[in-house]
Amino acid sequence: MLIRNAEPRDVPAILERYNQAVRETTAAWTNQEETLDQRLSWYEGRVKEGLPVLVAVDHHDAVLGFASFGPFRPREGYRLTAEHSVYVDPAMQRRGIGRALLERLMEIAVGKSLHVLVGVIDGSNTASIALHEKLGFDVAGRLPEAGTKFGRWLDLVFVAKVLQPMQPPDA
Ligand SMILES: CC(C)(COP(=O)(O)OP(=O)(O)OC[C@H]1O[C@@H](n2cnc3c(N)ncnc32)[C@H](O)[C@@H]1OP(=O)(O)O)[C@@H](O)C(=O)NCCC(=O)NCCS
Repeated sequence: MLIRNAEPRDVPAILERYNQAVRETTAAWTNQEETLDQRLSWYEGRVKEGLPVLVAVDHHDAVLGFASFGPFRPREGYRLTAEHSVYVDPAMQRRGIGRALLERLMEIAVGKSLHVLVGVIDGSNTASIALHEKLGFDVAGRLPEAGTKFGRWLDLVFVAKVLQPMQPPDA
């Protein structure tokens, strides 16, 4: 397994991974699958902003998972915090791929002098919460019944990690 920057040719596989999660999981709180054009715009937007879009690939270069981060919230006071996401093919989960993707994202975030990474997770997503705790994230808050999908309420759980100590910027 190799982690590399996603190329435009990987976007269909990223789309497939994301849409499967939309259909079958509470990782994305929507029932709206995306089109290839929408995922391509997302990819191009991230690349243009210098933000990472990573894929984990096997020895045939097939995409096993992807991960990315982007702005947490739009106002400039949040500029040293990013929100990330990680998706792994269900058939390939629990083999260290999510961990490898998230570890690489954390390295990139440190390299970009970001201060905090935030994950926003469904409270019943024990796999994702456990992955983040294993990598040193703290559960920083829980909003009970903040969302709904599949006929049930979903708690929103924030996981956060201060990546590196730093002085706050002057302004
Ligand atoms: C969450 C997700 C990314 C984890 O990826 P993964 O490749 O399966 O995770 P890893 O194999 O790297 O697991 C690393 C550690 O996380 C924890 N973990 C992962 N899956 C777990 C599970 N199902 N139950 C309990 N702990 C789990 C374990 O501590 C694991 O270490 P171990 O296997 O040595 O015990 C994956 O389950 C996924 O893609 N889920 C659907 C999409 C999603 O929910 N994304 C997160 C939204 S932010």
